[in-house]
Amino acid sequence: MTADSEKDIKYLKAIGRVVAQALKKMMKEARPGITTAELDDIGKEFLEKEGATSAPRAMYKFPGATCISISPVIAHGIPNDHVLREGELINIDVSAEMDGYFADTGASMVVSKHIPEIEKILAATKSALHKAVHAAKAGQPINVIGKAIQQEAKKNGFDVIYDLTGHGIGHKLHEEPASIFNFYKPDDRRILNEGLVLAIEPFLTTGKGRVVEKKDGWSLQTVDKTIAAQFEHTIIVTKNEPIILTL
Ligand code: CO
Ligand code: CO
Repeated sequence: MTADSEKDIKYLKAIGRVVAQALKKMMKEARPGITTAELDDIGKEFLEKEGATSAPRAMYKFPGATCISISPVIAHGIPNDHVLREGELINIDVSAEMDGYFADTGASMVVSKHIPEIEKILAATKSALHKAVHAAKAGQPINVIGKAIQQEAKKNGFDVIYDLTGHGIGHKLHEEPASIFNFYKPDDRRILNEGLVLAIEPFLTTGKGRVVEKKDGWSLQTVDKTIAAQFEHTIIVTKNEPIILTL
């Protein structure tokens, strides 16, 4: 959607804050011994308390309130009886709706341990998100986003996941413009307009950058079982710095 009123901006900020807080709360509770279903319940209860509704469940009948992925699964992991262990690389993605407005955020982390090798890809992915968010200015082509992400990935010795993209968002979880690629696509002629609401979500990997769906019909895992990381923000594009809704 294009946010073109004070009301739009106010409501988008409200749901942006709720998903960001839910994610932070879940990351804090992601310790050894907790199951991903229990972690999902923490997110679910927080969303409900704030008056928000889980978006993946409402829109796609996803079997969970949030997506919790254990490496090498990197997206759409189903919360279940998996018990988190020290040193596991996980991704938590929270998207929700409130008063007809949607926001989407996500982060990867290591459970209760310092693992420099993994921290490198986490830092690079975070940095790629930062670069992409600040490249997204009204009047610029949409492909500046993928360009910034791919450049930052390469600079740090990683590749992007080519199959997973950002997306328009606002009145639905996924809407036009679809497929905000995480790599530079010179033939993508779409232009960013003022007020455009986008979910930008770089995925970086040590592998070939392709994912495959597992038998559960949801979980997306790297084909080569290499590690991957994702960070995601929902933003409103302006002529200058964007409004980041999910900080
Ligand atoms: Co997301
Ligand atoms: Co998203």
